Amino acid sequence: MNSPDFFNSSPLAPAADEQGSIIAGLLADQAQISPAYFYDALGSALFAAICELDEYYPTRTESAIMVQHREAIVQSLGKPGVLIDLGAGNCRKAAQLLAHYQAIQYVAVDVSVDFLKQALADVQLRYPALQILGIGQNFTEGLTLPAQVAAGPRVMFYPGSSLGNFTPDQALGFLRSVREQSTAGVDAGGRLLIGIDLVKPRTILELAYDDPLGVTAAFNLNMLKHLNQVLGSDFDIAQWSHRALFNEAQSRIEMHLVAKRPLRVSWPGGSRDFAFGETIHTESSYKYSIAAFERLLAQAGYHSIRHWTDEKAWFGVFVAQA
Ligand code: AVI
Repeated sequence: MNSPDFFNSSPLAPAADEQGSIIAGLLADQAQISPAYFYDALGSALFAAICELDEYYPTRTESAIMVQHREAIVQSLGKPGVLIDLGAGNCRKAAQLLAHYQAIQYVAVDVSVDFLKQALADVQLRYPALQILGIGQNFTEGLTLPAQVAAGPRVMFYPGSSLGNFTPDQALGFLRSVREQSTAGVDAGGRLLIGIDLVKPRTILELAYDDPLGVTAAFNLNMLKHLNQVLGSDFDIAQWSHRALFNEAQSRIEMHLVAKRPLRVSWPGGSRDFAFGETIHTESSYKYSIAAFERLLAQAGYHSIRHWTDEKAWFGVFVAQA
């Protein structure tokens, strides 16, 4: 049996820089906190719970598309290559794909290499002969792949509509960098396999981001608890409420935290007053039409684009050649 190799290319963000950019966000006219701060241990568990909710359709719809159209999707990936899983997390989606797509090597990229260790041990148990490489990297600013990635066509796997959390400009830059890495130093044949949430009626979208059980509200509010740890701020979670709305002009769900009364939030060296009803913008989740997403892929240099959807056309799985 093989065993996974690991490569850590996450530079530790200097704490002072991290705090500076959090504070700049809190002091902006429209206060904002990066969605990266959702994901402490509790936030990651709450996100996993969101994916189980009836109202949060993306996860189950994407996996139903992958099952229903598996043969065509796998065929469109071309000859066996290196499967590169961007934001691999628990590696569950890739593990399912690997049962049908013969990969030369499985490369799982995630911010935390430690988080990948258990998940990759499980993948290795299921596929003992598979070559596995875990890479710790915050690839959202642009992806770079180390020399340990095997030669051969590269299939970049980016499921879950995670691209929707970038602005369209950031998404274009990111797709370009992923495309460069699919072709850098290897033969032609690179592919992108990506899942994207599609535009749909407001009521469905808003329910998916504001579920009656309050799991998404807890996920959003938990960010304040996380920030108190990282920044030493004194957010009182009970004084804030969750809001999710579809901004149709920008084609995005926006999540905000809303001040329930006039509040002062302090941190070492500073503070900000929030008026009643003032918000902190915590996340945007862009929704694309099929045509708009195909245009974005083409702008990033991809061609021969194919897509599959569910019967309600709520979610799209796209394969494009690099
Ligand atoms: C991770 N990302 C694709 C999720 C989304 O749908 O934008 C994050 C999320 N936020 C609230 N619910 C889920």
